[in-house]
Amino acid sequence: MKLYKVLFILIFISFETSWSQQVNSNDGCANIHNDYMKGIRLFNYTDVSNCYKSIPFDGSVANQTIQTINELFNGFYSFLDIAREPPPNGFNFSSINITSELNRLLNNNTYGSLFQFMTNVRNVTTQLKDAHAKFVTSCFTTFAFFSNFTLYSVVGTNGTQIIKVRNDTIDPSNNNCEVILIDGVQAFNVIYEFARDSVFISKDIGVRFNLALDIVDAENSFSYRMNLPPTLNITYRLNCSNNIKDVNRDWIAMSLPEILNQFNDSKSFYKNRCNITTTNQTMISLYQREFHETKNFLHVKRDNSILDITQEYKGDHDNWQPINVTVIGVVPDFISFFIKDDFGVIKIFSEQITFNDSVAINTIKGFENLANSGVKKIVLDLSNNFGGSVAVSAFINLILFPNNTNPFFDYDLRITDSIRFALENGILFNINETAFSSTKTKFQNINDFMGNNSYIRGNVTGRYSNKFVPDILSLLTNFIAQYLRIPIPWTSKDIIILTNGVCGSACALIARHAVENNNVSTVAVGGIVNSTNLSYTSFPGGFYIDSSTIFKLNSLNNTLIPKPFPLNAYITIPFTEVYSRKQPDKLLEFLYSPANFTIFYDEQSIRDQSILWSKAASYIRKT
Ligand SMILES: *[C@@H]1O[C@H](CO)[C@@H](O)[C@H](O)[C@H]1NC(C)=O
Ligand SMILES: *[C@@H]1O[C@H](CO)[C@@H](O)[C@H](O)[C@H]1NC(C)=O
Ligand SMILES: *[C@@H]1O[C@H](CO)[C@@H](O)[C@H](O)[C@H]1NC(C)=O
Ligand SMILES: *[C@@H]1O[C@H](CO)[C@@H](O)[C@H](O)[C@H]1NC(C)=O
Ligand SMILES: *[C@@H]1O[C@H](CO)[C@@H](O)[C@H](O)[C@H]1NC(C)=O
Ligand SMILES: *[C@@H]1O[C@H](CO)[C@@H](O)[C@H](O)[C@H]1NC(C)=O
Ligand SMILES: *[C@@H]1O[C@H](CO)[C@@H](O)[C@H](O)[C@H]1NC(C)=O
Ligand SMILES: *[C@@H]1O[C@H](CO)[C@@H](O)[C@H](O)[C@H]1NC(C)=O
Ligand SMILES: *[C@@H]1O[C@H](CO)[C@@H](O)[C@H](O)[C@H]1NC(C)=O
Ligand SMILES: *[C@@H]1O[C@H](CO)[C@@H](O)[C@H](O)[C@H]1NC(C)=O
Ligand SMILES: *[C@@H]1O[C@H](CO)[C@@H](O)[C@H](O)[C@H]1NC(C)=O
Ligand SMILES: *[C@@H]1O[C@H](CO)[C@@H](O)[C@H](O)[C@H]1NC(C)=O
Repeated sequence: MKLYKVLFILIFISFETSWSQQVNSNDGCANIHNDYMKGIRLFNYTDVSNCYKSIPFDGSVANQTIQTINELFNGFYSFLDIAREPPPNGFNFSSINITSELNRLLNNNTYGSLFQFMTNVRNVTTQLKDAHAKFVTSCFTTFAFFSNFTLYSVVGTNGTQIIKVRNDTIDPSNNNCEVILIDGVQAFNVIYEFARDSVFISKDIGVRFNLALDIVDAENSFSYRMNLPPTLNITYRLNCSNNIKDVNRDWIAMSLPEILNQFNDSKSFYKNRCNITTTNQTMISLYQREFHETKNFLHVKRDNSILDITQEYKGDHDNWQPINVTVIGVVPDFISFFIKDDFGVIKIFSEQITFNDSVAINTIKGFENLANSGVKKIVLDLSNNFGGSVAVSAFINLILFPNNTNPFFDYDLRITDSIRFALENGILFNINETAFSSTKTKFQNINDFMGNNSYIRGNVTGRYSNKFVPDILSLLTNFIAQYLRIPIPWTSKDIIILTNGVCGSACALIARHAVENNNVSTVAVGGIVNSTNLSYTSFPGGFYIDSSTIFKLNSLNNTLIPKPFPLNAYITIPFTEVYSRKQPDKLLEFLYSPANFTIFYDEQSIRDQSILWSKAASYIRKT
């Protein structure tokens, strides 16, 4: 792609461009369309920036957007009040009154563009540090950005944490060089601040630091982004065996044909990408992934993303084949079984799968074959696992710990009139699929479910539902009893969990069950040296709902359901709390839970996960 290397001779970025001043040659959206017609697939950063910023700020769109988000948070967000409490020790985030932060955005009428305003809205939700709570516009997620330059972090022999080049896809001879400066600032500090401010996957900054350096999630990665990067290039000062040099990398923008076909200039971009009248979920965002629990306990939607740049890095996918290990079984996209040396490895990639009989049976076969191999120790690898279905995690929990017949955690809801209305209309979940956590009996009716409980969160007394669990225990136990023909030979002391902390949602429920209820030990890899120990899970929060599902209940004069967004956008909102079982008064989302052991990546293990398996296995013998 030589076209790519054309120099940026004349750069005309106008942050204050207004609609009427737009002349065609300066219409970034039109330039992109022209490139696309010529067969170009990697687009010019400046064109995308101009295209995004061509849409003028609109005060009434801003007002309506904030009003809708505020009503959604007030009506549905389970952590509205507790989010104002100071962070527990070990976590790094700011307590926030989300309502006043959002309102504050309206006191400002100096936005140069709609893009600037929407970016600020997104920035507010980012501060919640909860992957389940995010605001996405279709307009400004039209492109993803890649810098052809990825990073990793190791701790040097003198104990200092440094940043190194994982893969410079333009000049691979730079791989493994130390990155000293990024745009003139100490490289470690740049990544630390990015993890602190822009990554929202976890309340633990060490986990955010790990994800910032990975590219498995474009919303949380330094090198692969959904948000428009602030500048068109990045300069890295490298130390390659004491040869100091600067390399400069431009951001490139990418999108999908079905999205690129929607516009040919800024007017059609606004009409078809921002103010979409017919909502087609798959078209909303380039990178919309349904990776968390849905209201349906048993089935989850598949990922419908993704750009191919992730393929080469997909440490964690089907064709993932570490060297020097024996493959015992693979259930695509879900779970793999390996033997390395004298120990077994169970690697769970995701709980976001179509969980049907054949998947469940093949999973059971994998466990059986690993048991039959005679391995005595198990590394349970839960790295880069973004969750999925609660049923899947309960299924794994029951196989691994057959003597523990409660594979669930207790849930409840912050009761509001909107929540009640939504429950009555069946959009959150069906209360017939839930049971009292105390007695495991089904709820008779909605008032049963609502209960009459008051708790104080963030100094405010709120109403909360009775505690409940999904009512699928006998379904799962009967299934396992039918197909699992041998006892699982490993006990808690034979198992160790390995994770980079990116074990969210349904994955977190597997890890927490193993640790809290069965005393399994944990090894976490990465994070920040000389800091608090890395958390072994992130965003355990609970179930979330997508705003577009809520809007389906919208009707004239119904004040319980907010008006839809004026431009195409969605927000996901966690609407349940989940409790720790070991500390039943604590919510998992706000409970700092460090791993027992922390290890750091090195030049070899960053490229070969099986090295980390061996390190984790060595801790089994010590405990
Ligand atoms: C990107 O677009 C800008 C503005 O349209 C133009 O000046 C610049 O030359 C382009 N850069 C490349 C690499 O094509
Ligand atoms: C938006 O709301 C603010 C205050 O809430 C108000 O002053 C302003 O006039 C509104 N702007 C528009 C365009 O509706
Ligand atoms: C949060 O901010 C809103 C808007 O400023 C305010 O009405 C509310 O009282 C605040 N909540 C608390 C508990 O301080
Ligand atoms: C208004 O928003 C702009 C753009 O985000 C920012 O630069 C400015 O500081 C804000 N002004 C106030 C008063 O918050
Ligand atoms: C996001 O908000 C935080 C806190 O108000 C602020 O420090 C940061 O600069 C903002 N980031 C952006 C990109 O506006
Ligand atoms: C430790 O080593 C790193 C790189 O190897 C170097 O950049 C740093 O200055 C050293 N720190 C100290 C305190 O010697
Ligand atoms: C670096 O990226 C290139 C281009 O995508 C790929 O072919 C190569 O295998 C990668 N190298 C490493 C060490 O990951
Ligand atoms: C940059 O990365 C993209 C996506 O992997 C790739 O298509 C492109 O060829 C790379 N650019 C260069 C100059 O290697
Ligand atoms: C990097 O971008 C800046 C503008 O942000 C520009 O002045 C500079 O020339 C660019 N550097 C290269 C090497 O393209
Ligand atoms: C969106 O499009 C509809 C129909 O074309 C139009 O009535 C409405 O005013 C537009 N909204 C905005 C905010 O531009
Ligand atoms: C939504 O868009 C996708 C992708 O282009 C397309 O396959 C699908 O048919 C569309 N659905 C509807 C209902 O238009
Ligand atoms: C594979 O294992 C053998 C024997 O333990 C060892 O000699 C070899 O270096 C290993 N290969 C790799 C690529 O790790």
